[in-house]
Amino acid sequence: MQGGRHLVSPSAAVTPSGASAPGAGAAPLLKLRGISKTFGAVRALDNVDLDVFPGEVVALVGDNGAGKSTLIKTISGAGPATGGTITFDGRDVTVRSPTDSKALGIAAVYQDLALCDNLDVVENLFLGREERGHNFPFSRLREVEMEQQAIGLLSELQVKTLASVRTEVGMLSGGQRQSVAIARSLLGNPRIVILDEPTAALGVAQTAQVLALVSRLKERGLGVILISHNLSDVFEVADRIVVLRLGRNGGEYPATSDQRQAVVAAITGVGMDSPQAAAAAEVAPPSAVAAVQDPLAKPDPLTKKDLS
Ligand SMILES: Nc1ncnc2c1ncn2[C@@H]1O[C@H](COP(=O)(O)OP(=O)(O)OP(=O)(O)O)[C@@H](O)[C@H]1O
Ligand SMILES: [Mg+2]
Repeated sequence: MQGGRHLVSPSAAVTPSGASAPGAGAAPLLKLRGISKTFGAVRALDNVDLDVFPGEVVALVGDNGAGKSTLIKTISGAGPATGGTITFDGRDVTVRSPTDSKALGIAAVYQDLALCDNLDVVENLFLGREERGHNFPFSRLREVEMEQQAIGLLSELQVKTLASVRTEVGMLSGGQRQSVAIARSLLGNPRIVILDEPTAALGVAQTAQVLALVSRLKERGLGVILISHNLSDVFEVADRIVVLRLGRNGGEYPATSDQRQAVVAAITGVGMDSPQAAAAAEVAPPSAVAAVQDPLAKPDPLTKKDLS
């Protein structure tokens, strides 16, 4: 295994590879230890460890088939682990279903987004959690309240390119759809948000919008797990990079540009000094994120009340 196992030590919170977790000595919000997952004879995950602290973006990277999606499914409950332990907020927990995961405060946004194209933004945000007046089930939907909450949430997240929250989602761009899906995941008031390839299908400007949104989740104290094949995105927005390789921990690195070659080497398994690693680690063009961030916009605290 590339670099052996790199664990965050609870006392020092520093990995052998030098990745410092935020708040040395602080407890992780989510702690996975020895997670395994088998599909019949296939061992997709073998003894994987992962820590996520509040207010940090952890990028989960690895080649195709490395086990990234399988790992997040063990956290989101979509595909429970066959071995290992999950600790959330200091408590040992069992995640057997998406309901268990949601109840803990873990939200996952998958690549297909699961939005309904024929419904508008408000309807998508509140799908399955519609607000009604009293006298359920004969009560009317509280359309005005939901619309106001939708506008409030999207403006707090500084999603500015939507002309109207009454636009059908099928009419939106990829970046806008991703923003709606992320906003929807926040309605459950999660503490951890998992994003599986949120920029995979997006152009440069839309990618920048979504990365800016990821930064705002972090600013608001959420733990974010970001799966991405795009190392430019990863180095742009992540604090720590966790590499999976062939279903195992393949190293953990701070997301600083000098680590780029080491991360590529850990992903591919080729030597860090090889020409392939050097070529793949070519420095990315300057970020476009700053271009879409409004320098005058102040982040408002995203309160429980706002999001519930
Ligand atoms: N339902 C399943 N049945 C059998 N094998 C599976 C199943 N799901 C995943 N696997 C296997 O587990 C391994 C890890 O797959 P996974 O989808 O987690 O990889 P990944 O890192 O997300 O890859 P990608 O970057 O291509 O999305 C692969 O070998 C895959 O074939
Ligand atoms: Mg995957």
